[in-house]
Amino acid sequence: MVSYKEIGLVNTREMFAKAVAGGYAIPAFNFNNMEQLQAIIQAAAETKSPVILQVSKGARNYANQTLLRYMAEGAVEYAKELGWEHPQIVLHLDHGDSFETCKSCVDMGFSSVMIDASALPYEENIALTKKVVDYAHQFDVTVEAELGVLAGVEDEVSAAESHYTKPEEVIDFASRTGCDSLAISIGTSHGAYKFTPEQCTRDPKTGRLVPPPLAFDVLHEIEKKLPGFPIVLHGSSSVPQEYVDEINALGGKLPDAVGIPEEQLREASKSAVCKINIDSDSRLAMTAAIRRVFHDKPGEFDPRKYLGPARDEMKKLYKHKIVNVLGSDGKAE
Ligand code: G3H
Ligand code: 13P
Ligand code: ZN
Repeated sequence: MVSYKEIGLVNTREMFAKAVAGGYAIPAFNFNNMEQLQAIIQAAAETKSPVILQVSKGARNYANQTLLRYMAEGAVEYAKELGWEHPQIVLHLDHGDSFETCKSCVDMGFSSVMIDASALPYEENIALTKKVVDYAHQFDVTVEAELGVLAGVEDEVSAAESHYTKPEEVIDFASRTGCDSLAISIGTSHGAYKFTPEQCTRDPKTGRLVPPPLAFDVLHEIEKKLPGFPIVLHGSSSVPQEYVDEINALGGKLPDAVGIPEEQLREASKSAVCKINIDSDSRLAMTAAIRRVFHDKPGEFDPRKYLGPARDEMKKLYKHKIVNVLGSDGKAE
């Protein structure tokens, strides 16, 4: 049993309370490899933004849970080396699918876990979430739960359609589970294809797809029911069209990829939404940069020569999200 406190990580409790009160959101960036982690930490250190490092099931399968946890420990020291005196870094399990997975993360030093039982019937979601909360809270580890189902694929939880969170359920759910934050469904979804072209309109000037707006009415109803309670948005990549165009121009094939417009995320950040999950945008930044190197320098075969530019591009993206979208810069001086 290792406590996250011994390795310089923090949980989300104080971070979220400040974010809700201050009208900004904490970035939750997924990482699977060293370059993503370096880019996240450099961006957070340079902007003095609190940050959540997220580990998904896919990441655990790809890179190994133990290795990722030690990388996060290294990240705290790296942040200090970069001149960030008091780094505020959370190591979070993204979409935990069982009590055992959540427990193993708590036991090895994660400071926050998500139990995603959103696909289960309501009472089963409550029972499993409460079991995780009861365990995690003994070690001051915070727990994110989910109510409502996002469209698309949530790791292994698959749903063709989203089911918005029902505001009438949130008080009962939060009080009976004791969860610290709640992921809700208001129209976001995972991946780079958040809406079909049929669900969108087209901007007549640019020909680009314009997605339907998020259900802010549902968000506001939830806020009224649970004043000040930390709300989380998954599936919040914006799918920057510059990256999509670059990838497609350099041999890629991402037709009609579309995300959540950044203005809507900016608006959500001002509300009780205090954690915004972004993964796909980082994948797009990395892919665009690597394709650029392969295109411009076909003789290049040193991975550092294409992973380095990819890291720089991701860092630029993370800083942009922190400063221009979530407003978390300067909140962890
Ligand atoms: O929740 C979805 C995240 O983007 C993680 O996806 O399981 O492919 O790493 P992944
Ligand atoms: P995106 O696919 O929109 O980046 O969402 C990531 C996410 O919600 C991770 O849990
Ligand atoms: Zn998610």
